Amino acid sequence: MLRSPILAAARSPRTRSLVEHLPPTRAIVDRFVAGDVLDDAVRVTRELVGTGRKVTLDHLGEDTTDRAQADATVDAYDTLLDTLGETGLARDAEVSVKLSAVGQFLPGIGERTALENARRICTAAARVGTTVTLDMEDHTTTDSTLGILRELRVDFPWVGAVLQAYLRRTEQDCRDLAYEGSRVRLCKGAYQEPESVAFQDKGDVDRSYVRCLRILMEGKGYPMVASHDPRLIAIARHLADRAGRAPGSFEFQMLYGIRPEEQTRIVEQGDLMRIYLPYGAEWYGYFMRRLAERPANLTFFLRAMATK
Ligand code: FDA
Repeated sequence: MLRSPILAAARSPRTRSLVEHLPPTRAIVDRFVAGDVLDDAVRVTRELVGTGRKVTLDHLGEDTTDRAQADATVDAYDTLLDTLGETGLARDAEVSVKLSAVGQFLPGIGERTALENARRICTAAARVGTTVTLDMEDHTTTDSTLGILRELRVDFPWVGAVLQAYLRRTEQDCRDLAYEGSRVRLCKGAYQEPESVAFQDKGDVDRSYVRCLRILMEGKGYPMVASHDPRLIAIARHLADRAGRAPGSFEFQMLYGIRPEEQTRIVEQGDLMRIYLPYGAEWYGYFMRRLAERPANLTFFLRAMATK
């Protein structure tokens, strides 16, 4: 019930300025975000890698319509990737990129700019021997993002994509992307979407997730199972066994700060577990989507405010 208003607030500049200045916000944000600067990201990456987990780093930011900001984001990824190379962390850590942070929404030149900027990030990743995954944003960007993925894969065949099980189109997208060498992260989907394009009922989303998972596990690509849902994690394991997949031929993924004990259990059972680790000052949209996913997070947030 609260999901829609929270997701609407995630794109409201007025609510943003209010939430960012509330005294208890920082402590709760820190549960989901490594910190504001690169050093924070490197420190937490090192901790996670030290416990056998892999990492995908996200330099926070999205929805920019400012060319200079898009370029600054690319520079930040460039520095991040060089640092991962210099510290030896590039063996275990890749990066996730939101195309709307690197220019996809620039009027008239969005798609071309996002492609050029993503190419720069892929070049930096190739230099240090790691990979890039393109995050998926709201449904108005799906075709553009998959188009840019196709272009990037000509030179960088290891670029990964994200597909969202709540979209009605996703089963077909899974079929299209289940080919050899294709890295696909399957998640439920975190944005507010209309009924015409997305399942609204949680049960329908879960059933779609299982159908998509089956296609990816039986396909020739590399499935990345991004969910904290215990039922879906068990089903993914079962489908991997049934498809004869060896450990290392697929991976589980979770968000930093969510179900850390389960992350450890998956590592201990011998499967690959990658943590999505965001850092940077532009945490507002990401943080609001985490609140929307779980009413308990919002209750915690409101309670913390009431005690201030
Ligand atoms: P569900 O929301 O049903 O949660 C299952 C259980 O997990 C909950 O009962 C709770 O225990 C725990 N949980 C889930 N969310 C929590 C939270 N915020 N706080 C505390 N506990 C929580 N989406 C998108 O649209 N585009 C993208 O590119 C990505 N990328 C991405 C990468 C990775 C690695 C992950 C794990 C997720 C994404 N997502 C995403 C987000 C995804 O679409 C989805 O919103 C969340 O993963 C929550 O869905 P679950 O599958 O965890 O199930």
